[in-house]
Amino acid sequence: MNNSSSAPSGDTSGVSSSGNRVTTVLQITDCHLRSETGKRLLGVDTEDSLRAVLSQALDEVTPDALLVTGDIAHDPSLDTYLRFAALVREYFSGPMLCIPGNHDLWAPMRSILCDPARLDLGNWQVIGMDTHVDDDVAACLRPADEERLQEACVTAQGRHLLIACHHPPIGLECPWIDKHRIPGGDELLGWLSEYTCVKGLVFGHAHQIVDSSVKHIALMGTPSSCFQFAPHTERFTIDTTMPGYRWLYLADDGTIATDVRRVEDYPLHIDLTQRA
Ligand SMILES: [Fe+2]
Repeated sequence: MNNSSSAPSGDTSGVSSSGNRVTTVLQITDCHLRSETGKRLLGVDTEDSLRAVLSQALDEVTPDALLVTGDIAHDPSLDTYLRFAALVREYFSGPMLCIPGNHDLWAPMRSILCDPARLDLGNWQVIGMDTHVDDDVAACLRPADEERLQEACVTAQGRHLLIACHHPPIGLECPWIDKHRIPGGDELLGWLSEYTCVKGLVFGHAHQIVDSSVKHIALMGTPSSCFQFAPHTERFTIDTTMPGYRWLYLADDGTIATDVRRVEDYPLHIDLTQRA
């Protein structure tokens, strides 16, 4: 994994300096959209910050696909998901994979956003793994999802896999976040790492940058499109870093280059009294 890459120029698949074809994926996460435009969370207008993220990112590169790793809605109604879908389509009309987070509700989200559950992008498959449970912060790893992942590993036939989910499978040295990591995450990563086709796993929920690895698998957590959590904290602590997003450059040879960006000059005003 290379964390110091810069975005390839051009508007779709690029070619790296080594001649490898590169598929570009933009990850956004933890948008926490409210029930109506202008309504704030912790002082942040989450719809406005999402616009700032998409505007800056899509000015940089037009990706091959957009990956959204959960907590799309903070107020999870059909209307919120319709607004999210309409907002994103103002900026990007290509393939999009959306995965639910703990703040999402499956029924309204599924009806608007959850098809497909997988993206086929040339030599790569991006596979969504649903770790959410309605009305619960904790993660869940369902046997059916593990079976689906195993099937994808067995049938990869030379393609490379990137897995995407909401909850982290590893601890982040934040006990208040870590208690909601994927149960059995170590075991999950243990058997996934037996397959060389699995190159990376990206997640949300952490509201901070995580760049780690288990054997050959890159583990990547990404800043929220609204407010951030402070790394290495014992209890709920908001950070003042800017809304962010992650570029993923998936090369045909199976290597991943990645780059986390923050929006520039955003008027971020945290108000801890606005928690609902
Ligand atoms: Fe979140």
